[in-house]
Amino acid sequence: MNVDTLIVGAGFSGAVIARLLAENTKQKIMVIDSRDHIGGNCYDYVNQYGIRISKYGAHLFHTTRQDVWNFISAFGSWEPWEHKVLAKIYPRDGSDDFAYAPVPICIQTIQKLYDSSVQNEEDMRRWLAEETRSIKFQTPYKNSMESAVARFGHRIYNDFFHSYTLKQWEKSPEELDASVLERIPLRYNKDDRYFTDPIQMLPSCGYTGVFKDLLNHPQIEVRLNTDYFQERHCFNGVNFTVFTGPIDGYFASRGLDRLEYRSLRFEEDTFEMGDKDTVMQPASVVNEPSMRVPYTRTVEFKQFLNQRSTHTTLVREYSASNGDPYYPVPNERNTKLYATYQQLAERETEAERRTVLFLGRLANYKYLNMDQAIGNALDHWQKWTKDDMIKTHVVN
Ligand code: FAD
Ligand code: NA
Repeated sequence: MNVDTLIVGAGFSGAVIARLLAENTKQKIMVIDSRDHIGGNCYDYVNQYGIRISKYGAHLFHTTRQDVWNFISAFGSWEPWEHKVLAKIYPRDGSDDFAYAPVPICIQTIQKLYDSSVQNEEDMRRWLAEETRSIKFQTPYKNSMESAVARFGHRIYNDFFHSYTLKQWEKSPEELDASVLERIPLRYNKDDRYFTDPIQMLPSCGYTGVFKDLLNHPQIEVRLNTDYFQERHCFNGVNFTVFTGPIDGYFASRGLDRLEYRSLRFEEDTFEMGDKDTVMQPASVVNEPSMRVPYTRTVEFKQFLNQRSTHTTLVREYSASNGDPYYPVPNERNTKLYATYQQLAERETEAERRTVLFLGRLANYKYLNMDQAIGNALDHWQKWTKDDMIKTHVVN
C-alpha cells in the first residue's frame, strides 16, 4: 500500500497529527477508523428535525491555551458560547416541589436553595463556615464523602453529590478516594458559568464540520469502517503508525487483564413544540443528582447556539459499566495495570522494527478534554520535530 503513515482513529488526537504531518512533510497519510464516521467521540449530526445532536454526549469547547485555539480555529467556523448548567434539586421532605439551581456551587446556588441573604464573597465564606462548623473530619480525608462534607457541609453534599456519585460510579463517596470529589469547583462569587476558561466556543457547523476541514488535504486519505486489528496485514509495509485506540486492545494478545472504563447509555425523545424557539428545559444541560430518576443528566441540544426547530430532542444520559469506553476508572489496580501496558508501548517500536506511537485519551488511559487532546497532539508534534524523529523514522 502506498502509505507512509498510518493513523488509527479519526478523533482529535489522530486528525490533528494527520494534519500536521500533511502540512509539514510530503508524506501520504492514511487515517482509519472502525466507526462509520470521522470525529471520534466528538462526532455530531443534524437529525430529521434539523437539530444538531452529539452522538456521544454534549461537547463544549473551552481552553486556556492560546496555541490550541490558534490551531483549531482555522478549521470549521466557531462562535463564542458560554455554557451554563442547572441541577434539579428535590426537597428533603419527599415532596415534588423541586428547584433548579446553578452548578458549580456559587452564590446563586445558595440563594436559591438555602439562604437568600447571601449576597457577596464575605457572606458566602461566613455561610459555608457555619454550614461546616460541626464537621470534625481529620485531614488527610479518608474518602470522598469526608472531603466533600468538609468543604460544603451536609446539606449541599446530600443534595448535589451523594446520590449523583452513586449513579455515576455505582459506588458511594465513602468508597472513593478523597481526590475524586476534592476537585469539584466551589465559587465564592456570582459566576454561574460552567467553565471559567477565557476561550469558550462552539463550532457553528458542528464538530463534524471541523473534522471535515482538518482531514481535507490531498495527502490525507480517510477509510471508515476499518478496524486496525482486522486489517493490520494490509499495513505491514507502513513504517510509522500512530495508534489512538485503547491500549489494552492493542496488546490484547499478551493476556494481561483489561483496563476498566465507565460508559454511558443515551435515551432520546423528541417532542413537537410548534413554535421554533420554544424549549422544554430552563438550561441546555440539566443535572439530575437525585435518586428519584435513574439518569444523571438531560441535554436539550436545540439550546446550543439557539437552534430553531418546530421540535425539540432531549437526550437522557445513564451511567453504565458496559459499552464504549468513556471514562477511565482511577484506582490502584488500573493505575498499576496501565503502567504495565505503558512499558509494552515503549518497547513496541523496537519489537516491531518500525515506529509505533500511542496517542490520545484511550491509548494513554486518561480523561482528556478536547483542548487537552489537541494540545497533546501539538506538543508531541513539537517534540518530534525537535528530536528530528520525523526525519529519522519516517520517509520525508
Ligand atoms: P476519540 O475521540 O475517542 O477517538 C479515538 C478513535 O479511535 C475513535 O473514533 C475510535 O473509533 C477509533 N478506534 C479505536 N480503536 C480502533 C481500531 N482498532 N481501529 C480503528 N479505529 C479505532 N471534552 C471537552 O473538551 N468538552 C466537553 O464538553 C466534553 N464532553 C465529553 C462528554 C463525554 C460523555 C465524553 C466521554 C467526553 C467528553 N469530552 C469533552 C472529551 C472528548 O470526547 C475527548 O477529548 C476526545 O474525544 C479525545 O479525542 P481522541 O482522539 O483522543 O479520542
Ligand atoms: Na463524548
